Amino acid sequence: MSEKATKATESTETKPSILFIVGSLRKQSLNGQLAQVARTALGERATTSELAWADVPVFSQDIEFPAPEAVRRVRKAVADADALWIVSPEYNHGVPGGLKNLIDWLSRPVGPDEGAVIEGKVATVSSVAGSSCGRYAQAALLPTLDFLKLELAASPFTSVAFDREQFTTSTLAITEGLKADLAHQAAALLAKLDRA
Ligand SMILES: Cc1cc2nc3c(=O)[nH]c(=O)nc-3n(C[C@H](O)[C@H](O)[C@H](O)COP(=O)(O)O)c2cc1C
Repeated sequence: MSEKATKATESTETKPSILFIVGSLRKQSLNGQLAQVARTALGERATTSELAWADVPVFSQDIEFPAPEAVRRVRKAVADADALWIVSPEYNHGVPGGLKNLIDWLSRPVGPDEGAVIEGKVATVSSVAGSSCGRYAQAALLPTLDFLKLELAASPFTSVAFDREQFTTSTLAITEGLKADLAHQAAALLAKLDRA
Protein backbone atom coordinates (compact mmCIF):
# COMPACT_ATOMS: atom_id res chain seq x y z
CA MET A 1 0.00 0.00 0.00
CA SER A 2 1.34 3.47 -0.80
CA GLU A 3 2.45 5.96 1.80
CA LYS A 4 -0.60 8.12 0.99
CA ALA A 5 -3.08 5.39 1.84
CA THR A 6 -1.42 4.67 5.15
CA LYS A 7 -0.90 8.29 6.17
CA ALA A 8 -3.45 8.45 8.97
CA THR A 9 -3.82 10.64 12.02
CA GLU A 10 -3.71 9.15 15.51
CA SER A 11 -6.24 6.37 15.74
CA THR A 12 -8.47 5.10 18.53
CA GLU A 13 -11.31 2.59 18.48
CA THR A 14 -14.00 5.17 19.10
CA LYS A 15 -13.13 7.83 16.52
CA PRO A 16 -14.88 7.69 13.16
CA SER A 17 -12.61 7.12 10.18
CA ILE A 18 -12.92 9.53 7.28
CA LEU A 19 -11.41 8.70 3.92
CA PHE A 20 -10.57 11.59 1.60
CA ILE A 21 -10.91 10.96 -2.11
CA VAL A 22 -9.15 13.69 -4.08
CA GLY A 23 -10.32 13.88 -7.69
CA SER A 24 -7.00 15.23 -8.97
CA LEU A 25 -3.81 13.18 -9.12
CA ARG A 26 -1.65 16.26 -9.70
CA LYS A 27 1.25 16.51 -7.23
CA GLN A 28 0.50 20.17 -6.46
CA SER A 29 -3.27 19.70 -6.61
CA LEU A 30 -5.19 22.60 -5.06
CA ASN A 31 -7.89 20.06 -4.17
CA GLY A 32 -5.27 17.93 -2.43
CA GLN A 33 -4.26 21.01 -0.45
CA LEU A 34 -7.89 21.66 0.47
CA ALA A 35 -8.19 18.07 1.68
CA GLN A 36 -5.28 18.72 4.04
CA VAL A 37 -7.05 21.78 5.46
CA ALA A 38 -10.22 19.72 5.86
CA ARG A 39 -8.26 17.03 7.73
CA THR A 40 -6.97 19.75 10.05
CA ALA A 41 -10.57 20.95 10.53
CA LEU A 42 -11.58 17.47 11.67
CA GLY A 43 -8.63 17.46 14.06
CA GLU A 44 -8.63 14.85 16.77
CA ARG A 45 -12.32 14.06 16.36
CA ALA A 46 -11.67 11.56 13.57
CA THR A 47 -8.96 9.45 12.03
CA THR A 48 -8.32 10.56 8.48
CA SER A 49 -6.52 9.19 5.46
CA GLU A 50 -6.33 9.92 1.75
CA LEU A 51 -7.13 7.25 -0.80
CA ALA A 52 -4.31 6.33 -3.21
CA TRP A 53 -6.09 5.49 -6.46
CA ALA A 54 -3.67 6.42 -9.27
CA ASP A 55 -3.19 2.77 -10.25
CA VAL A 56 -6.89 1.92 -10.63
CA PRO A 57 -7.39 0.76 -14.23
CA VAL A 58 -10.06 2.01 -16.60
CA PHE A 59 -13.22 0.06 -15.83
CA SER A 60 -14.26 -2.74 -18.11
CA GLN A 61 -16.61 -5.58 -17.32
CA ASP A 62 -14.05 -7.83 -19.02
CA ILE A 63 -11.60 -7.36 -16.11
CA GLU A 64 -14.17 -7.12 -13.32
CA PHE A 65 -13.76 -10.64 -11.87
CA PRO A 66 -11.37 -11.26 -10.31
CA ALA A 67 -10.99 -7.58 -9.48
CA PRO A 68 -7.52 -6.11 -10.12
CA GLU A 69 -5.35 -5.73 -7.00
CA ALA A 70 -5.61 -1.91 -7.06
CA VAL A 71 -9.41 -2.18 -7.12
CA ARG A 72 -9.44 -4.62 -4.22
CA ARG A 73 -7.24 -2.20 -2.27
CA VAL A 74 -9.42 0.88 -2.85
CA ARG A 75 -12.58 -1.12 -2.15
CA LYS A 76 -11.14 -2.23 1.20
CA ALA A 77 -10.19 1.35 2.09
CA VAL A 78 -13.72 2.53 1.30
CA ALA A 79 -15.36 -0.40 3.08
CA ASP A 80 -13.26 0.28 6.20
CA ALA A 81 -14.10 4.00 6.27
CA ASP A 82 -17.07 5.36 8.19
CA ALA A 83 -17.41 8.30 5.81
CA LEU A 84 -16.02 9.70 2.58
CA TRP A 85 -15.00 13.30 1.91
CA ILE A 86 -14.68 13.79 -1.84
CA VAL A 87 -12.60 16.82 -2.86
CA SER A 88 -12.60 17.33 -6.58
CA PRO A 89 -11.83 19.79 -9.34
CA GLU A 90 -14.09 20.32 -12.31
CA TYR A 91 -13.07 19.19 -15.76
CA ASN A 92 -15.03 20.54 -18.73
CA HIS A 93 -18.04 21.36 -16.55
CA GLY A 94 -18.13 17.81 -15.25
CA VAL A 95 -16.53 15.27 -12.92
CA PRO A 96 -12.90 14.38 -13.75
CA GLY A 97 -12.89 11.11 -15.68
CA GLY A 98 -10.52 9.41 -13.23
CA LEU A 99 -12.82 10.09 -10.30
CA LYS A 100 -15.90 8.88 -12.17
CA ASN A 101 -13.99 5.74 -13.18
CA LEU A 102 -13.07 5.13 -9.53
CA ILE A 103 -16.70 5.56 -8.44
CA ASP A 104 -17.81 3.16 -11.17
CA TRP A 105 -15.48 0.48 -9.76
CA LEU A 106 -16.74 1.19 -6.23
CA SER A 107 -20.34 0.94 -7.43
CA ARG A 108 -20.04 -2.66 -8.59
CA PRO A 109 -20.93 -5.64 -6.40
CA VAL A 110 -17.88 -7.22 -4.82
CA GLY A 111 -19.22 -10.75 -5.26
CA PRO A 112 -22.38 -12.73 -5.98
CA ASP A 113 -23.80 -12.23 -2.47
CA GLU A 114 -22.21 -8.90 -1.64
CA GLY A 115 -23.17 -5.34 -2.50
CA ALA A 116 -21.08 -2.38 -3.55
CA VAL A 117 -18.74 -0.95 -0.92
CA ILE A 118 -19.73 2.66 -1.64
CA GLU A 119 -23.47 2.14 -1.25
CA GLY A 120 -24.96 3.91 1.76
CA LYS A 121 -21.73 5.59 2.85
CA VAL A 122 -21.99 8.89 4.70
CA ALA A 123 -20.27 11.51 2.54
CA THR A 124 -19.63 15.12 1.76
CA VAL A 125 -18.06 16.97 -1.18
CA SER A 126 -15.77 19.98 -1.65
CA SER A 127 -14.18 21.56 -4.71
CA VAL A 128 -11.50 23.92 -5.84
CA ALA A 129 -11.96 25.03 -9.44
CA GLY A 130 -12.10 28.07 -11.69
CA SER A 131 -14.73 30.78 -11.59
CA SER A 132 -17.55 28.22 -11.55
CA CYS A 133 -16.32 27.11 -8.07
CA GLY A 134 -16.85 23.53 -9.25
CA ARG A 135 -20.64 23.84 -9.29
CA TYR A 136 -20.93 21.93 -12.58
CA ALA A 137 -18.75 19.10 -11.23
CA GLN A 138 -20.82 18.95 -8.06
CA ALA A 139 -24.07 19.08 -10.03
CA ALA A 140 -22.83 16.17 -12.14
CA LEU A 141 -21.62 14.19 -9.12
CA LEU A 142 -24.75 14.50 -7.01
CA PRO A 143 -27.10 12.30 -9.11
CA THR A 144 -24.43 9.57 -9.08
CA LEU A 145 -24.01 9.75 -5.31
CA ASP A 146 -27.78 9.82 -4.89
CA PHE A 147 -28.21 6.80 -7.17
CA LEU A 148 -25.62 4.93 -5.07
CA LYS A 149 -27.58 5.85 -1.91
CA LEU A 150 -24.79 7.82 -0.28
CA GLU A 151 -25.95 9.70 2.83
CA LEU A 152 -24.83 13.29 2.34
CA ALA A 153 -24.09 15.48 5.35
CA ALA A 154 -26.42 18.45 5.70
CA SER A 155 -24.03 21.28 5.03
CA PRO A 156 -23.16 23.44 2.06
CA PHE A 157 -20.35 21.88 0.05
CA THR A 158 -17.28 24.06 0.37
CA SER A 159 -16.45 25.50 -3.05
CA VAL A 160 -13.41 27.60 -3.77
CA ALA A 161 -12.63 29.55 -6.93
CA PHE A 162 -8.89 29.95 -7.31
CA ASP A 163 -7.55 33.32 -8.42
CA ARG A 164 -4.76 33.89 -10.91
CA GLU A 165 -2.04 33.81 -8.25
CA GLN A 166 -3.23 30.51 -6.76
CA PHE A 167 -3.50 29.03 -10.24
CA THR A 168 -0.02 30.21 -11.24
CA THR A 169 1.71 29.18 -8.03
CA SER A 170 -0.44 26.08 -7.37
CA THR A 171 -0.75 27.25 -3.79
CA LEU A 172 -4.16 27.29 -2.15
CA ALA A 173 -4.96 30.47 -0.21
CA ILE A 174 -5.97 29.19 3.21
CA THR A 175 -8.19 32.05 4.36
CA GLU A 176 -10.13 32.32 7.61
CA GLY A 177 -13.32 32.02 5.51
CA LEU A 178 -12.15 28.76 3.98
CA LYS A 179 -11.20 27.37 7.39
CA ALA A 180 -14.61 28.37 8.76
CA ASP A 181 -16.45 26.73 5.83
CA LEU A 182 -14.49 23.51 6.26
CA ALA A 183 -15.02 23.55 10.04
CA HIS A 184 -18.77 23.83 9.40
CA GLN A 185 -18.67 21.01 6.85
CA ALA A 186 -16.57 18.82 9.19
CA ALA A 187 -19.05 19.36 12.02
CA ALA A 188 -21.97 18.44 9.76
CA LEU A 189 -20.21 15.27 8.61
CA LEU A 190 -19.48 14.20 12.18
CA ALA A 191 -23.06 14.99 13.22
CA LYS A 192 -24.36 12.86 10.35
CA LEU A 193 -22.15 9.99 11.52
CA ASP A 194 -23.42 10.39 15.08
CA ARG A 195 -26.98 9.93 13.83
CA ALA A 196 -26.14 7.13 11.37
C1 LIG B 1 -9.02 18.87 -18.55
C2 LIG B 1 -9.33 20.07 -17.70
C3 LIG B 1 -10.57 20.66 -17.77
C4 LIG B 1 -10.89 21.73 -16.94
N1 LIG B 1 -12.16 22.23 -16.94
C5 LIG B 1 -12.51 23.15 -16.02
C6 LIG B 1 -13.87 23.55 -15.90
O1 LIG B 1 -14.74 23.11 -16.60
N2 LIG B 1 -14.16 24.45 -14.93
C7 LIG B 1 -13.20 24.97 -14.09
O2 LIG B 1 -13.53 25.76 -13.21
N3 LIG B 1 -11.92 24.61 -14.19
C8 LIG B 1 -11.55 23.72 -15.13
N4 LIG B 1 -10.25 23.31 -15.23
C9 LIG B 1 -9.25 23.95 -14.38
C10 LIG B 1 -9.11 23.24 -13.05
O3 LIG B 1 -10.14 23.66 -12.19
C11 LIG B 1 -7.78 23.59 -12.44
O4 LIG B 1 -6.74 23.12 -13.29
C12 LIG B 1 -7.63 23.00 -11.06
O5 LIG B 1 -6.48 23.56 -10.45
C13 LIG B 1 -7.50 21.50 -11.09
O6 LIG B 1 -7.50 21.00 -9.78
P1 LIG B 1 -6.17 20.56 -9.01
O7 LIG B 1 -5.41 21.81 -8.72
O8 LIG B 1 -6.69 19.93 -7.77
O9 LIG B 1 -5.40 19.64 -9.90
C14 LIG B 1 -9.91 22.27 -16.07
C15 LIG B 1 -8.63 21.68 -16.04
C16 LIG B 1 -8.33 20.62 -16.84
C17 LIG B 1 -6.97 19.99 -16.75
